[in-house]
Amino acid sequence: MKQLTKTVTLEHKQLTILKPIDLVVNAGETLAIVGSSGSGKTTLLSLLAGLDLPSSGEVYLKKQALHKLDEEQRSQIRAEHIGFIFQQFLLINSLTALENVMLPAELANKANAKELALTLLNDVGLADRCEHFPNQLSGGEQQRVAIARAFISQPDVLFADEPTGNLDSNTGQHITNLLFNLNKQYGTTLVLVTHDQKLAQRCHKQIEMADGHLIAEQNNLTPLTSVDKAVKL
Ligand SMILES: Nc1ncnc2c1ncn2[C@@H]1O[C@H](COP(=O)(O)OP(=O)(O)O)[C@@H](O)[C@H]1O
Ligand SMILES: [Mg+2]
Repeated sequence: MKQLTKTVTLEHKQLTILKPIDLVVNAGETLAIVGSSGSGKTTLLSLLAGLDLPSSGEVYLKKQALHKLDEEQRSQIRAEHIGFIFQQFLLINSLTALENVMLPAELANKANAKELALTLLNDVGLADRCEHFPNQLSGGEQQRVAIARAFISQPDVLFADEPTGNLDSNTGQHITNLLFNLNKQYGTTLVLVTHDQKLAQRCHKQIEMADGHLIAEQNNLTPLTSVDKAVKL
């Protein structure tokens, strides 16, 4: 992203929630976005993922200029290249775990949607929960379904907004390991918003936001994850 900003209008007043930001995330890299509540992390993530449009500046995904595309064109790019794990999981309550995970692949007319979904549910340790509905799953299990769903399109980039924010520390640790394993296994770029310092330190790069500014950028010399052995599905 180049000189990216976001201004919203609230009660007839202009409120700038992202001040000009420059940022590069390389393919296969893991990036943690940290910063206090209200600093602009979720806004930044939505712009990077093409869920929302900037007020000014440029944002590219795989050389495509997201800021020049309309919602339909961006949604096409999201379907092809992006996975998003929302803080509130956003599973569909009337669908089973298996059906929730299959959905993006079915919408993309993939013939092997069910097979892929079963493999991913197995990867996240939920092989025996496929027929459960979201309200029959614990918070950690729902989060794992959301991760499997985000991975089924084999995204080039996975965005996750506080993926461990609502989980106890054991479950959070488990989810974190899953994300990094999936990054290793499939070479997926990870962009994570987190309050968890341990999680942030596992990433190749960390940026810190404060009051809409990017105030610090740090490369972790020995992240615990590696993309050396990355293979694509
Ligand atoms: N659509 C919006 N309208 C008005 N204010 C917003 C909107 N979205 C976010 N904000 C404000 O922008 C700031 C940054 O929000 P957010 O990106 O959600 O922060 P974070 O994820 O770091 O907690 C907050 O002060 C929030 O209240
Ligand atoms: Mg947020």
